[in-house]
Amino acid sequence: MTEPKKLFVKTYGCQMNVYDSERMVSALGGQGYVETDTPDDADMILLNTCHIREKAAEKIYSQLGQYRPLKNKKPDLKIGVAGCVAQAEGEEIIKRQPMVDLVVGPQAYHRLPEMEAKVGSGELLVDTEFPIEDKFDHLPKTGGRGPKARRAPSAFLTVQEGCDKFCHFCVVPYTRGAEVSRPVSQIIAEAEDLVSRGVVEINLLGQNVNAYHGEHGGKEWGLAQLIHELAKIDELKRIRFTTSHPNDMSEDLIAAHGECEKLMPYLHLPVQAGSDKILKAMNRKHTAAEYLDLIERIRQARPDIALSGDFIVGFPGESEEDFQDTLELCRQVRYGQAFSFKYSPRPGTPAAERADVDEAEKSDRLARLQALLSEHQMDFQKSMVGKTLPVLLEKPGRMDGQMIGKSEFLHAVHMDADPSLVGTIVQAKILHSERNSLAAEIVG
Ligand code: 5AD
Ligand code: SF4
Repeated sequence: MTEPKKLFVKTYGCQMNVYDSERMVSALGGQGYVETDTPDDADMILLNTCHIREKAAEKIYSQLGQYRPLKNKKPDLKIGVAGCVAQAEGEEIIKRQPMVDLVVGPQAYHRLPEMEAKVGSGELLVDTEFPIEDKFDHLPKTGGRGPKARRAPSAFLTVQEGCDKFCHFCVVPYTRGAEVSRPVSQIIAEAEDLVSRGVVEINLLGQNVNAYHGEHGGKEWGLAQLIHELAKIDELKRIRFTTSHPNDMSEDLIAAHGECEKLMPYLHLPVQAGSDKILKAMNRKHTAAEYLDLIERIRQARPDIALSGDFIVGFPGESEEDFQDTLELCRQVRYGQAFSFKYSPRPGTPAAERADVDEAEKSDRLARLQALLSEHQMDFQKSMVGKTLPVLLEKPGRMDGQMIGKSEFLHAVHMDADPSLVGTIVQAKILHSERNSLAAEIVG
């Protein structure tokens, strides 16, 4: 029997990339690869890159430089660059780093095995097309290490990719392309497969997931219909989705938060800024008042829902007054959790052409925003103390005898528990709140 070849995948960025990496591992399984957790003895290294953060491409070039000694030691080592940096840079990657063997964009992963087989043939292996054929039709299911390999209790499932919104700061519409939804039947089949492997929670992924409009029996289904259908799978206990645009929160999706018990009371709904002037400059296509009204309607459907968001400070043209509007919006919403970033220009996006806010000012605004957001996060966490919450146990915790899981509101919760309880939902009494987690004990 031939020794399996070893594949090391380094994943950057969002959950979508985590999902894609799993798919690529499965796809390359057909080429005789098994995954390894170190690049040192790998036969192939694949960087699954993200372009959303600052200097993303530079970081990838520097990481590739670090693999130089490995390539020198083992000239057969194959090196591939996938993901959004691959999409944005294309051939340039091989020009700047000739030791890279192949470059593959997010819509072309199903061609990866074929490309891998051609390494060494002299052909330029760069595929950043947005092909008409559906990559999901060609990629094997995740968890392909043997039939019915068990999976962790919580899994991602990509239902939609790309984005047509063109926010003026964002590269996603360029790197991931136009918005595409997978057909309902494909998603249900994948969900059933996941559940048969021990998954009890599915997080539906998409760059603009609530724009989902998948085909079902000749009609188009929205995300709410998809969620209701998935909820019929008995052993599936929890459904989440991320990330959403406010303008795609349809009435039936809002209502689903009140109607569907399996849909978790947590919603990541980025607003980015609280000033109408900046929202307009960002091309977000809604006002702060419209967003607040939407939040109000969501809370009417599900009063205890935990809200989460993304913020950008120091967008071109943002004055102190505009920034104050962002703080005010946060005070009104009181997010349970939020992510905040300093604006940084992405080449090729409209905002990159505009005059940037002073760097020190950006840092100062970010610090003030984060102080407020973390105050709200702490208040929300503390409001859980003394309550008994259902927690899905996912993995061993840091301390011996401890397990860690998630509350319905996506808090990390740790408690003493037997490892055999992994994948079960226990009733946990919250004892105290820590910085980024809750400590609890199992009751009953
Ligand atoms: N600068 C700063 N933050 C950005 N994001 C996206 N593009 C940029 C940028 N150019 C943030 C947004 C988005 C999150 C995923 O990353 O807040 O919601
Ligand atoms: Fe980027 Fe999200 Fe705006 Fe789409 S909706 S352009 S993914 S920030």
